Amino acid sequence: MARAGRIVADILESLKGMIRMGVTTKELDDYADSRIKAQGGTPAFKGYRGYPASICASINEQVVHGIPSQRRLKDGDIISIDLGVYYEGFYGDGALTLPVGPIAKEDAELIRITEEALYRGIGMAAEGNRLFDISDAIQRHVEGHGFSVVRLFVGHGIGRELHEEPQVPNYGSPGQGPRLREGMTLAIEPMVNAGSPEVRILDDGWTAVTADNRKSAHFEHTVVITGSGPRILTK
Ligand code: MF3
Ligand code: CO
Repeated sequence: MARAGRIVADILESLKGMIRMGVTTKELDDYADSRIKAQGGTPAFKGYRGYPASICASINEQVVHGIPSQRRLKDGDIISIDLGVYYEGFYGDGALTLPVGPIAKEDAELIRITEEALYRGIGMAAEGNRLFDISDAIQRHVEGHGFSVVRLFVGHGIGRELHEEPQVPNYGSPGQGPRLREGMTLAIEPMVNAGSPEVRILDDGWTAVTADNRKSAHFEHTVVITGSGPRILTK
């Protein structure tokens, strides 16, 4: 899983450097697809329930599962890129949101708080804690800054399958849920909306957008719980 996660991290890092005005999301997808294969991996999302691409590229009010296309990025956009890799029997899954050129101050704040919320959640991924301690830490950080957490999608266990038990919601009550144990591997992934938490799915059957058309951000890491705290595999 560490190797799968390393491939995810390396490719996301390279994609960061490609984000600029005029780039199409298809170009980002083509790059990721070829880099995954060059490193001996397989795109985890392509073919998953019929999903047609190797990355999800979700722009502005798109929350998750945006399908790469000929759409060109423009200054002021924010783009969430989600990438999953299968490598020698195991999965890695990671996501991040990036600014395209100069962006509005409130959009930068949305991105910052979402990433911070992910790290707050990861901080609770320790042996002996409860699963919803992670959820609660994320929710409190997000709502404390006036944003909202999406309910319709959640994080997940990950390992030999992309999605395993348990579900990892980005909302919940501290002290509740299964006890966290050494060796558990979780994909923690807050999806945070500037306005209402409601989302709807576009007619393509995939793209989730905010119901109020305000912006949304998404960060994700694959994490393993060790005896000495959380270890991030997609960093
Ligand atoms: N990070 C998301 C997930 O955990 C992305 C899935 S995209 C899909 O499920 F195409 F695979 F559905
Ligand atoms: Co995921």
